[in-house]
Amino acid sequence: MESVSVLMPRPTFPYLEQELDKRFKLLRLWDYPHSTQFLKDNANSIRAIVVNSVDPAKKLIEALPKLEIVTNYGVGVDNIDLNRCKERRIRVTNTPDVLTDEAADLAIGLILALLRRLCECDRYVRSGRWKLGAYKLTTKMKSLICDCNCEIRMEAEERVLCSGMGQHRHPSGLFWNGQRTNQIERGDREGKDDFSGKRVGIIGLGRIGMAVARRAEAFNCSICYHSRTKKPESQYKYYPSVVELASNCDILVVACSLTKETHGIIDRKIMDALGPKGALINIGRGKHVDEKELVSALLEGRLGGAAMDVFENEPHVPQELFGLENVVLSPHIGSATVETRTAMADVVIGNLEAHFRGKTLLTPLV
Ligand code: NDP
Ligand code: DGY
Repeated sequence: MESVSVLMPRPTFPYLEQELDKRFKLLRLWDYPHSTQFLKDNANSIRAIVVNSVDPAKKLIEALPKLEIVTNYGVGVDNIDLNRCKERRIRVTNTPDVLTDEAADLAIGLILALLRRLCECDRYVRSGRWKLGAYKLTTKMKSLICDCNCEIRMEAEERVLCSGMGQHRHPSGLFWNGQRTNQIERGDREGKDDFSGKRVGIIGLGRIGMAVARRAEAFNCSICYHSRTKKPESQYKYYPSVVELASNCDILVVACSLTKETHGIIDRKIMDALGPKGALINIGRGKHVDEKELVSALLEGRLGGAAMDVFENEPHVPQELFGLENVVLSPHIGSATVETRTAMADVVIGNLEAHFRGKTLLTPLV
């Protein structure tokens, strides 16, 4: 297979490149789509491409008349026109399952980072501002802690840091970082910063959505979902519309695939339904969310907070989000562990080998 030309339009993971180099004639097109001369010169010899979920593969596929197989280094295939590939009898594969756990882990990580304000806490500690100081108690605070025999020592800044996502607009709420917090009645808290016991709504109860649900259950959360279809085998509550789901959960996790129907699925209506104490987590695709509306909803306090791993036009991230503390941003790293990226690479290589040896593909889509 050393003579089979396989094209990669972008550097991805070194192991994948090394392994492809060993087995095929790997052509690197790092300046695509800026320079097309190399593509023109090699178009008639390229039989396979390895694309990343964010590569603009649609145009690339059209430029390759001898293309037999598109292997996507990722599970989401919104970057590929599957119908067109079917028409041209081009096989398409992706990397399902091997990344499910890691993507779900990231969703939980983002929830915890947002609710417990971990990024902000980290910045606070690094800044050297963490000091203990006596805090003057208000009457309301005293009455709330009357049964606690503990010393309350903290500074105002620390109190705000410990007071959770919703407290950005309610800095008066009592909350501190000792073990005694449980003794304060839930109703007295204005922020919503516990994860345990929350209502988690999931859009897309597929492989990753299901893995998020199982993890959230371990945090004693109640789970509800919206998908194209109701899952009779699932005990979770199903909502036939996203707005109903958003109105009935505290944390909304977007884990569906990107299609015409799910493009912009998180609009103003959904953000308002989620509300000033609600948290939006997006690990699906950036295009699920109307980013302009997201910025307005956060700035106007209509949405409690957001944690995003994906963005509409990556790597562009709306500047307005940078100044907001009730936002956690990560650079599309759902599957980015060495083990998972290695497993994904093995699936890509396995599919290419199977195709060029005339065997059954491991993960065929088309
Ligand atoms: P699955 O195919 O298993 O799940 C996709 C889910 O999306 C299904 O539950 C499906 O519903 C749902 N869905 C599709 N269309 C609609 C719709 N119109 N309305 C509501 N729900 C819909 O895929 P995975 O779970 O493996 O992956 C999901 C997505 O996550 C990927 O497509 C990718 O975009 C993204 N992803 C992001 C990563 C990251 O790094 N941030 C990492 C990996 C994946 P139904 O079950 O009813 O068909
Ligand atoms: C996927 O697998 O779809 C991820 O977004 C990684 O690109």
